[in-house]
Parts: sequence; C-alpha cells; structure tokens
Amino acid sequence: MRLIATATVLVLMLSGCDDTTGQKPKTQVTGSVYHMMAHYLEPAADKIWGSAGFVITEDGEVDLQPTTDDGWFAVEHAAIVVAEGGNLLMLDGYAADQADWAEYAQGLTRAALKARDAAEQQDADALFAAGGEVYSVCRACHNRYMINAADE
Ligand code: HEC
Repeated sequence: MRLIATATVLVLMLSGCDDTTGQKPKTQVTGSVYHMMAHYLEPAADKIWGSAGFVITEDGEVDLQPTTDDGWFAVEHAAIVVAEGGNLLMLDGYAADQADWAEYAQGLTRAALKARDAAEQQDADALFAAGGEVYSVCRACHNRYMINAADE
C-alpha cells in the first residue's frame, strides 16, 4: 500500500514537471552576488591558485603542485566549481546585465575549464597558466562592476 502511495506521489510530482507551458522552471539564487563570490567562487579559485606555481619560504622554494592523485582530483573539482560558476553568474538574481556581465561570466567558464583539463592531465605548467587566466577574468569583471574595485 505504501509503495503504491509513493508511486502515485512520484507520478504526480513528475507530471508537475511537464513542460506544457513551454516555460523553463524558475531558478532562484541562494544569496547575494557577494555571497556567491565569497562563499562559492573565492574558495574554489583559491584552491586552484594555491595548487600552482611556487612560494618562497624560510626553507626555500616550495612547489605548490599536488603530489598525489587525490590532490590533483581536488584541484579538478575546484576548477569545475569555478567553471560552473560562470554559468551560475548568468542566473536572474546574479546577472547585472546580459551584455558585458555575460561575457565575463563565460570567460570565467572558459578559463576554469582550462584549469580543469590541466588538473586532469596533472600538468603543473598548464594549471599555472590557466590559474592566471582565471585571475584576469575575476579582475576584469571587478574593474567593470565592483564599486571601489580599486581598493581590491
Ligand atoms: C561577472 C562578474 C564577476 C566575475 C567573473 C567575478 N566577480 Fe567577484 N564580484 C563581482 C561583483 C559585482 C562583486 C561585488 C559584490 C557585492 O559586494 O555586492 C564581486 C565581489 C567579489 C568578492 C568580495 C570582495 C570584497 O572585497 O568585497 C570576492 C572575494 C570576489 N568577488 C571573488 C571573485 C573571484 C575569486 C572571481 C574569479 C574566480 C570573481 N570574483 C569573479 C563580479 C564578478
């Protein structure tokens, strides 16, 4: 009996998704652009930047590239988060306009996909280059849309 009830509910739910009106289901952003930046994009981008290039410490030069498959996988994951972030930035509620904003958002996706490919191939040089491209897109959009971007 319970099974039948569950099945009926499922059918009802699915038929609710029927695209009879031709309208796309409504999306709803989960927070402000600031939240999207600070809690979604920035942590993932940091993971990319923190996994490429070298830092100088008291002990000398330290290579930041991952040393294990799991480490590379984590970078790949972060790059996909940033890449999909470009799509998310075009949602109603985030998108400031459909012109330059969309250009930057798509540029972010393109750059992050290069980082993903680099991580997949465990190519440290390519990851460093892609990380630089991601950074330029972040900066470019901030210069255009962020008030007080010069304080960055
Ligand atoms: C499509 C445009 C766009 C792109 C691309 C973009 N940002 Fe932003 N970002 C903004 C805007 C607009 C704000 C200002 C949001 C606010 O404060 O209301 C912002 C704010 C921020 C903030 C808060 C900064 C502060 O000091 O208040 C951080 C952190 C941030 N972005 C990180 C990033 C990172 C990292 C990337 C790239 C991986 C990125 N953003 C890409 C538009 C963009």
